Amino acid sequence: MNDRLYSSLLNYNGCIMNASGALCMSKDELDKLNISESCAIVSKSCSLEPRNGNQEPRWYADIENGISINSMGLPNLGYNFYYQYFKNRDIQKPKLMSIAGTSMNEALDIFKLILNEYEFPNAILHDNIYLSDYPDNLFFEFNMSCPNIVGKPQIGYEFNYMNEYLNNIDTIINTFQKNSIFKNKIKYGIKLPPYFDVSHFNTASEIINKYNVSFVTCINSIGNGLIIDTASETVVIKPKEGLGGIGGKVIKSTALANVNMMRKLLRDDIHIIGCGGIETGEDIFQHILAGADAVQVGTCLVNEGINCFDRLNRELIQIMNQKGYQFKNDFKGKLKFL
Ligand code: DHB
Repeated sequence: MNDRLYSSLLNYNGCIMNASGALCMSKDELDKLNISESCAIVSKSCSLEPRNGNQEPRWYADIENGISINSMGLPNLGYNFYYQYFKNRDIQKPKLMSIAGTSMNEALDIFKLILNEYEFPNAILHDNIYLSDYPDNLFFEFNMSCPNIVGKPQIGYEFNYMNEYLNNIDTIINTFQKNSIFKNKIKYGIKLPPYFDVSHFNTASEIINKYNVSFVTCINSIGNGLIIDTASETVVIKPKEGLGGIGGKVIKSTALANVNMMRKLLRDDIHIIGCGGIETGEDIFQHILAGADAVQVGTCLVNEGINCFDRLNRELIQIMNQKGYQFKNDFKGKLKFL
C-alpha cells in the first residue's frame, strides 16, 4: 500500500470509507463521496461493458431491524467510466477501483486494459523519469464474492479458482512491471465472501499468503439470504425468487469473526479492511480491535447518506477518548481472549 493510503489508514479519524456498491455508481455519487468525510473512494464493482443489472425491486432495507438484502446484478457504467473518473478528477484521497466482471477472464481483461493505459498514451520520457497520467493513489479491489450473478459461483468459495485468479493477477503485474517505472506501484486487494468454517479460513488464508496481495476486505454480504414480508406473504426483491446478499447490523458478528481470523492467519504486511454491520463508532471500534486497519460502510451509508461518515468519525473518536486511546494502533488487533 503506498504511503498516502497507509497513512490515511493509520489516521484514527480517517479510516472509514464506503463499501463498493454503496452510493458509488454514478458520477454524482462519486462526487459526493469525494467531498464527504470518507477517507477513500471505492467504486461500484465494474464489468467490461456497462450493465443495467437485475430487475427491480432489487434492494430492500428494514432499518429498524438492521438488515438489508440486495440483488443488484452488477449494474455499472463499465470499467472505463470509473477508470477515467479516477484518472481525471481532482481527488485528494485514495481511490479503490472495484473490479468484478462476470468471470475471472473478464476481470483480468479489465485489469490488463487499465495497465496498458498506464504505460502508453500520455507518458513521456523526461530527464529519465516518466511524467505520465498514472493515476496516483489508485488501488484495485478484485471482487471475489459477488453473490448475484445468476449461474456464477462466488469465487471466494471455489478455492482452486481463487488460487488461479490470484496467480493470474500476480503474473500480469510482474509482466507489466518488468523494466517499468511502475515497479511496485500496482497494489491490489481482494474482497472476500464471509467464511463460516475454520477449515475455510485456513484454506483461504494459505492461498492468499502466497500472492502479492496488499489488502483483504472482509466481508461482502452474506449471499443468498431471504427476507419475507409477513403481511403480503411475499419476498421483498424480484431477482432470483427473492434471494439476495444480506447486509446490515445482523451480519456484524460474522464480519468480526472473519476480520479476526484473517488477522491471525494472513501475513503481517497484508492490511485488513473490515466491512459488515457497521452502524456506529462502537462497531468500528470493534472491527479495529478485531484487527481491521480501516473499515467500509455499506447498508448504513445507503440508508443514512454520506453524512454518516462525519457521525461515525465523531463516535469513534468519542469512544477512543473515553478509553484513553489516542491512536488506532493503541488498540488495533488487541482483542483480548478469555
Ligand atoms: C453486486 C453485489 C455484490 O455483493 C457484489 O460484491 C458485487 C455486485 C450486485 O448485485 O451488483
